[in-house]
Amino acid sequence: MAHIKSNCPKWLSTAVFYQIYPQSFYDSNSDGIGDIPGIIEKLDYIKFLGCDAIWLNPCFESPFGDAGYDVSDYYRVAKRYGTNADLKRLFREADKRNIKICLDLVVAHTSIEHPWFKQSCKAEKNKYSNWYIWNDGTYKPVDKDLRFGWIRGYCNRDANFALNYYWCQPALNYGFAQPDSKKPWQLRVDHPDVKAVRKEVMNIMSFWLDMGASGFRVDMARSLVKHDPGYKATSQFWRQVRQMLDKDYPNAVLISEWSCPTQAISAGFHVDFMIQINEKVYNYLFRMEKHRDVLGESTDEGYSFFDKQGKGDIQKFLDRCTEHLRNTKGKGYISIPTGNHDTGRIGIGRNQKELEMVFAFIMTMPGVPFIYYGDEIGMRYVRNWVSKEGGYARNGSRTPMQWNDSKNAGFSKAPALKLYLPADSAKNRPNVEKQTANQNSLLNRVRQLIRLRKNSPALCADGSFTALYAKSKKYPLVYMRSDGNQRYIAAFNPSKYKVRADFTSPVGKTIPELKAGWGTDLKIQGRKCKIDMNAVSYGIFKL
Ligand code: GLC
Ligand code: CA
Repeated sequence: MAHIKSNCPKWLSTAVFYQIYPQSFYDSNSDGIGDIPGIIEKLDYIKFLGCDAIWLNPCFESPFGDAGYDVSDYYRVAKRYGTNADLKRLFREADKRNIKICLDLVVAHTSIEHPWFKQSCKAEKNKYSNWYIWNDGTYKPVDKDLRFGWIRGYCNRDANFALNYYWCQPALNYGFAQPDSKKPWQLRVDHPDVKAVRKEVMNIMSFWLDMGASGFRVDMARSLVKHDPGYKATSQFWRQVRQMLDKDYPNAVLISEWSCPTQAISAGFHVDFMIQINEKVYNYLFRMEKHRDVLGESTDEGYSFFDKQGKGDIQKFLDRCTEHLRNTKGKGYISIPTGNHDTGRIGIGRNQKELEMVFAFIMTMPGVPFIYYGDEIGMRYVRNWVSKEGGYARNGSRTPMQWNDSKNAGFSKAPALKLYLPADSAKNRPNVEKQTANQNSLLNRVRQLIRLRKNSPALCADGSFTALYAKSKKYPLVYMRSDGNQRYIAAFNPSKYKVRADFTSPVGKTIPELKAGWGTDLKIQGRKCKIDMNAVSYGIFKL
């Protein structure tokens, strides 16, 4: 069994990530689509914000059936974003500013346009026949267990291929953990063709790491090996990848879209998002009642905790969170992002104060925070979307970054109709320029919160976390973060009601110093603490 070192690259422990959706960030050549030279022009903004790492959504050649999550050439930057030389320049320019760039590694599936898949479609056997999952006859019953189903009758090869997501995203073949002996097309995980696919993944990673990338966010990281209970065989593969990194690229990081940090960190990842699928973190914490069904998901997960209605249940979230923190301690990190290109935006239905509170929470929680572009100015979810590149409801969160008051919000000089997606048309749409000038803007508050975090080891990824007041269906939420003698108490009352709570402090008498927030009165006497909080208030106190 591959063995992973438990230490993470040091830079991760203080990192604050910024997620860039390249097509919507900044268009440098006025064709209506954001691009890599555009990102380079905006690096100083990211520095100004205080972030020191970037997750870049896929920027590789693709027919864009799923916005680039359908790669047709892993070794080439998509023309619309620039060239490999541009990406290399981005790595260099970012490095000058001490910013790391992590790419999106989408290797659970390719595009149907990928040359490997085109070869695989051929009736004659060839090197790539087994690189994808095919059954052995178009008219044979297909295997219902595979999550995303099968495509039938696509080409002359007399077989159906397995999907990993949309119809245009055939699953690469990582083998079957428990192949059915009656179905010889279910290859074992050590089949030479499966091994060849795995080897190729490592080649792709080395290619970009050698060029200057600092790591990867791995798309659908657990959807590799099929019929794999507990993701054991899939984890085994990632541990081999991690071994390669530890040996050849010890500063590189692996971030997973797995949604179960306990599993993902033991599979060798350094960071895993607590969002979607299993964790529903976004729903528990940030998703407002009003936009519950924006992404068409079920509504059984209840109310957001960060909602004025005050009907949320922080306990549900904290139970999961503390379990993952315990299981991953010293080995890797959880991540609570503000959102991403697949979720609604936190800006839905929240005013500036409520948004600041969400940021204050994220910037005082353990793990590695991620800010989705535009959330720092409170960009809205744009409702009247027409689907683009397989985005559907997700398009509302993928609109152009709003830089200033000029045409297209300063995103592009192209005619509005040529934009990748229309910019938010609201008259008072927030923008970077206006908020930079206003000391009390969300943007400037977020900058202060990031600075506070980065200057306080207790608030960074490794500081310990203790819930002081966290009760089912009750407000507020109060917790302590500490590192050595440094201690902070953070308290949140997103509800529209005044609240009071009594709890015990783990440290003796001190006079708490308010570092951020408003409307919160914290008294510590001996070990007894009393907190009084106004409606919609928070406080971060240094003890
Ligand atoms: C991930 C991506 C999403 C994409 C899907 C298929 O969930 O975040 O945008 O559609 O994988 O690659
Ligand atoms: Ca462009």
